[in-house]
Amino acid sequence: MALYSIGGVRPVRDIPVPSGDSRSRLVDSFGRRLTYLRVSVTDRCNLRCLYCLPAEAHFPFGDRDFLSPAEFEETVGTLVDMGIQRVRLTGGEPLVRRDILEIVERLRRLPGLEDLALSTNGTELPRLAGPLRDAGIDRVNVSVDTLDGERFHQITRRDDLEKVWRGVEAALEVGLDPVKLNCVLLADHEPEDLDRLVELTLARPLAVRFIEMMPTASNEHLQAGQFRSCDWLRERIEARHGALEAADPPFRTGPAKSLRVAGARGTVGFITPLSHTFCKDCNRLRLTARGELRLCLFADRTYPLRPLLGDSAALEAEIERVLADKPEEHMLTAGDYGNLASFMQIGG
Ligand code: 5AD
Ligand code: SF4
Repeated sequence: MALYSIGGVRPVRDIPVPSGDSRSRLVDSFGRRLTYLRVSVTDRCNLRCLYCLPAEAHFPFGDRDFLSPAEFEETVGTLVDMGIQRVRLTGGEPLVRRDILEIVERLRRLPGLEDLALSTNGTELPRLAGPLRDAGIDRVNVSVDTLDGERFHQITRRDDLEKVWRGVEAALEVGLDPVKLNCVLLADHEPEDLDRLVELTLARPLAVRFIEMMPTASNEHLQAGQFRSCDWLRERIEARHGALEAADPPFRTGPAKSLRVAGARGTVGFITPLSHTFCKDCNRLRLTARGELRLCLFADRTYPLRPLLGDSAALEAEIERVLADKPEEHMLTAGDYGNLASFMQIGG
């Protein structure tokens, strides 16, 4: 496991996140209630973002290697019975799964599930925004690192910005509200390019969130030079627009600080896993596409649940047993990112 440290970043612990609900039976050994589940439905992706995948990445697995819609229904259903209230579907790119609408329909029917969201790169949203809403998705996050076509190609190694943007418009049109845009900060981002993302929020009801790049085995080549903290961007935004105001988060399940430029319709958020850690209030679990539970994004192991499907008592007992292993916090600032090869395995 590569050990490195990200220059000059000292973690600060802040950002209280509501840590769940007393109905949840999912409590870890630090007393945190786990009410939020991120579900990867596939490892595959149609883009190759440089902080996520190597250009030559190819995928040995197909839909059949991943849980079927019925298996997702059973696994997620058990976790919802035990206390999960909100679910987000991720990938890879979740919309490359041909049966994504069936997965959504099945999860939507789970009693006790309050919120069903999706994180996508947006390329398939022009076609799927309406059907996803009809199947039961409440809201979407779209990865948009830049509004510049050439830069989009540099980052994603594909020419799909126009499709992504039509996807964002389609999501707004069909009422997948709020639409959040995620931008992973890289040191060589043109500052003016970031300014344009911020300016989108002035007139439009978008939540633009900037994310500090998290280290994984597949982005080691970027780690020394490309890390940029959100504090740098916040200073730049405030120099241009004045102090940011606290905003009611459009929908809060996680650690983004929600702010707004005075008078703006949309919001600006910062997700700072490195410069300000938020593990203390972690409320989340993750399920991989192959049906393994991951207790922390950066943990060094996963727990297979697929072999237990069909036996709900065994499944529940195993989930309760492994929860005790949830670590108190990640060790990223000490340079340890567990066994995470890439975000395509788990979708952030
Ligand atoms: N660090 C931070 N965010 C990442 N994402 C993918 N890889 C990384 C990384 N190394 C983001 C994507 C997407 C979300 C699911 O995770 O941009 O918005
Ligand atoms: Fe695909 Fe998302 Fe990874 Fe980009 S960040 S390559 S869109 S999974």
